[in-house]
Amino acid sequence: MNERDNPLRPYPGRLVGIKNIAQDIKLFQIELKDGQPFDYRPGQFAFLSAFGVGEAPFGLASTAERSPVLEFAINRIGTVTDALHSLEPGAVVGVRGPLGNWFPLEEIKGRNVVVLGGGIGGAPLRPVIHSILDHRDDYGKLTILWAARTPSLLIFTDEYEQWAAAPDTELHVTVDEGDERWSGHVGLITQLLERVAPSPENAVAIICGPPIMIKFTLLTLEKLKFQPQQMLMTLEAKMKCGIGKCGRCNMGEKFVCVHGPVFWYTEVARFLESFV
Ligand SMILES: Cc1cc2nc3c(=O)[nH]c(=O)nc-3n(C[C@H](O)[C@H](O)[C@H](O)COP(=O)(O)OP(=O)(O)OC[C@H]3O[C@@H](n4cnc5c(N)ncnc54)[C@H](O)[C@@H]3O)c2cc1C
Ligand code: FES
Repeated sequence: MNERDNPLRPYPGRLVGIKNIAQDIKLFQIELKDGQPFDYRPGQFAFLSAFGVGEAPFGLASTAERSPVLEFAINRIGTVTDALHSLEPGAVVGVRGPLGNWFPLEEIKGRNVVVLGGGIGGAPLRPVIHSILDHRDDYGKLTILWAARTPSLLIFTDEYEQWAAAPDTELHVTVDEGDERWSGHVGLITQLLERVAPSPENAVAIICGPPIMIKFTLLTLEKLKFQPQQMLMTLEAKMKCGIGKCGRCNMGEKFVCVHGPVFWYTEVARFLESFV
């Protein structure tokens, strides 16, 4: 067996860059020390370990196509993320993965795509946006709705201009609460969605964000006549093993770590009520 095939083994990676991208959110850039390819797709995640502290799962925020450097946008929230945030460039972390399934970007070629990202939930959607922009002719219209609680929590702000300037692409940004410098839209992503009202015709909506956002965004999409088979989402659950063995992340008969984190609404509608 190739060493990289052991899903329980963390591989050492060097932090080659750390950028502050929002309040308490840093983008970590990691180069694996063994130089072997890390074959992953948009939507997959990996566990990062701060040695001596522990590990936690994070969505890959980069695409293998753009760079061999792995990127993760990490919100400082507790033990592991605190330890990761205190590291400096050059430090070594453990990388266990790639894990989970991925967005069916091949399957949805030719369709219009509506991407809805809330807060740190935008992290696993960035590779979706990058992939569509890098293969622009393979997809129809791209509509990005991007939200955060406040302007200081918006992630990847330095890329908005580039996203909005891409052919047949619209970007709409909103915050729940503005500040003195904010002149953009204020209101929930659901309100923005009703205003933008993307057509469900030949469209797929992809959602990632906090559970409350997912719940109400699905309802708003239904109002706009999107069908369950047109809605994709990534879900988060508390995880331990990440490989379908410990049962920590179960949702009905599904394990978020192996059957997800990407799900069609049709797959999870039954369980979602108790989950989000
Ligand atoms: C597939 C997947 C992808 C993820 N991607 C990202 C990402 O790209 N960026 C990012 O910042 N985070 C991401 N997370 C969430 C991250 O793994 C958790 O926040 C993790 O617990 C942080 O570890 P910690 O030790 O710092 O926090 P802890 O000390 O474990 O927890 C701090 C607080 O957060 C709560 N909490 C822990 N895990 C979760 C969870 N999954 N959902 C809701 N509340 C939780 C705890 O109850 C506690 O209140 C992802 C999680 C999953 C499952
Ligand atoms: S985290 Fe162990 S089964 Fe999913």
